Amino acid sequence: MRITNVFKAALFAPLVAIASAQGTLLSALSGTVPAGKAYNLTTLQSLVSEAALGKDLFTQLGAALGGGANLTVFAPTDTAFASALTLLGGLDKVLPIAGQVLSYHVSTQVVDTAYLKANTLSYIPTLLGNSSLASIKPQVLKLEVKLPNVTVSGLIPVNVIDSIVTSNGVIHVVDGVLLPPGNASATLTAFNSLKDNVVAFNQLAAALDSQNLTTAVNTVTPITIFAPVDSAFAAVAKAVPADTLTKVLKTVLTYHVIAGAAAYLPPSGSYQTFQGENITVVTNGTSVKVNNANVLATVLLSNGVVHVLDAVLVPPTVAASLGGNSTASAPPAASGSASASAPAATGMCLVFVLCRAEADRFDPCRIGTAAAKPGNAARSVAGTAAGVLGAVAAAVLVLA
Ligand SMILES: *[C@@H]1O[C@H](CO)[C@@H](O)[C@H](O)[C@H]1NC(C)=O
Ligand SMILES: *[C@@H]1O[C@H](CO)[C@@H](O)[C@H](O)[C@H]1NC(C)=O
Ligand SMILES: *[C@@H]1O[C@H](CO)[C@@H](O)[C@H](O)[C@H]1NC(C)=O
Ligand SMILES: *[C@@H]1O[C@H](CO)[C@@H](O)[C@H](O)[C@H]1NC(C)=O
Ligand SMILES: *[C@@H]1O[C@H](CO)[C@@H](O)[C@H](O)[C@H]1NC(C)=O
Ligand SMILES: *[C@@H]1O[C@H](CO)[C@@H](O)[C@H](O)[C@H]1NC(C)=O
Ligand SMILES: *[C@@H]1O[C@H](CO)[C@@H](O)[C@H](O)[C@H]1NC(C)=O
Ligand SMILES: *[C@@H]1O[C@H](CO)[C@@H](O)[C@H](O)[C@H]1NC(C)=O
Ligand SMILES: *[C@@H]1O[C@H](CO)[C@@H](O)[C@H](O)[C@H]1NC(C)=O
Repeated sequence: MRITNVFKAALFAPLVAIASAQGTLLSALSGTVPAGKAYNLTTLQSLVSEAALGKDLFTQLGAALGGGANLTVFAPTDTAFASALTLLGGLDKVLPIAGQVLSYHVSTQVVDTAYLKANTLSYIPTLLGNSSLASIKPQVLKLEVKLPNVTVSGLIPVNVIDSIVTSNGVIHVVDGVLLPPGNASATLTAFNSLKDNVVAFNQLAAALDSQNLTTAVNTVTPITIFAPVDSAFAAVAKAVPADTLTKVLKTVLTYHVIAGAAAYLPPSGSYQTFQGENITVVTNGTSVKVNNANVLATVLLSNGVVHVLDAVLVPPTVAASLGGNSTASAPPAASGSASASAPAATGMCLVFVLCRAEADRFDPCRIGTAAAKPGNAARSVAGTAAGVLGAVAAAVLVLA
């Protein structure tokens, strides 16, 4: 490994005033971390020069990092690698996918100070493409900025703890390894196994299974899935007789899917669902509303994206058939306004009851308050025990 002193030029500074290092990304990454930093990068450095790894990737990466295009590199600390390697079962298990995982740490988007100031939530492309870990080519990372905090998510969010600008890009040192996202089943299962979860999707997973839709949501690429939390399904189950629900379940579920697009942060508009009818999306900054439901969190999938919802979406025709009318599923003019009192008709109940009449007992709205900030649910994933990451990591290995 080449050892240079470029890091000595890097001052410890708040992220918003990113420190500068002389030299290229590659020379900066190869250098020693100056004394006083709360991290080392020796594992990353040895992996980058690991001959057993995907040589093509590293030849390519090396050329890119050494000069070429401007890039951003997310550099996990030694501590981060140690946790990830333990959970993944050791370096031997990791080596076959290490090249792909590392390529997920490099973006062609230059995430510099100006970018961080201008983008509070964005999805940036990585060099991970053309591989078994990438249904969508290339895979993206989710970047959330609340200065001075910057969070980067693959499947699990990690925090930027230091940043260095070089002549051809920026290095953001991160406190976790960015694992590429899994498919819908693996992701929903990971959420369901959380002990202190904000959200759970047991109902959705079971409903998808019962309608033979699980394979479809795992394989359709790209895909956008709106995933109501368990309490939202519970509210519907309370409001609508079971046999009625069974009859419309497939129609309702497919209304929660946009096939052919990964709508990470969808602009306001009308979107055709897999079921055929449209949903109405209203996006204001980083907050997204779909019909009458709120997006609580957004989680990446290898084949697209999941938006966690606090209510079940009901296609207008289903609302009508259940005794409401075609206006039943239109979003209320003002959410929470008095005009949105629960109507008698069952179809209307499906639409409006969730956040209102049933609010005290089955309160998806309360969940919405608790997790009002996008990303909270995802963060709860990060905060949980090794078991979850292990399950996720196992999924990553299976995919490899
Ligand atoms: C980084 O590595 C140096 C040299 O091995 C060591 O002295 C230092 O304690 C390490 N720092 C951390 C935060 O582990
Ligand atoms: C990289 O970014 C710098 C600073 O913005 C710019 O001057 C340079 O032209 C860029 N290089 C490439 C190859 O895009
Ligand atoms: C995938 O492979 C194709 C053909 O080899 C190439 O054109 C494309 O750039 C590659 N994409 C990525 C993300 O590596
Ligand atoms: C940044 O993160 C720290 C530690 O988690 C937290 O205490 C602080 O409130 C965060 N700041 C912002 C602006 O979100
Ligand atoms: C799901 O598939 C099984 C086996 O092919 C079939 O028996 C069942 O009727 C299907 N269920 C639905 C709701 O389509
Ligand atoms: C449904 O959405 C599609 C875009 O996905 C749009 O072209 C179409 O006009 C919309 N239809 C209605 C009735 O809004
Ligand atoms: C968008 O959000 C901002 C800040 O939360 C708020 O002031 C504004 O009223 C919202 N706009 C709409 C159209 O809801
Ligand atoms: C649909 O239902 C709403 C609420 O009950 C009612 O105000 C409206 O007049 C109905 N529209 C039609 C076309 O029946
Ligand atoms: C989804 O991921 C899981 C875990 O990696 C895997 O066992 C399953 O085969 C995948 N399903 C599809 C349809 O790719």
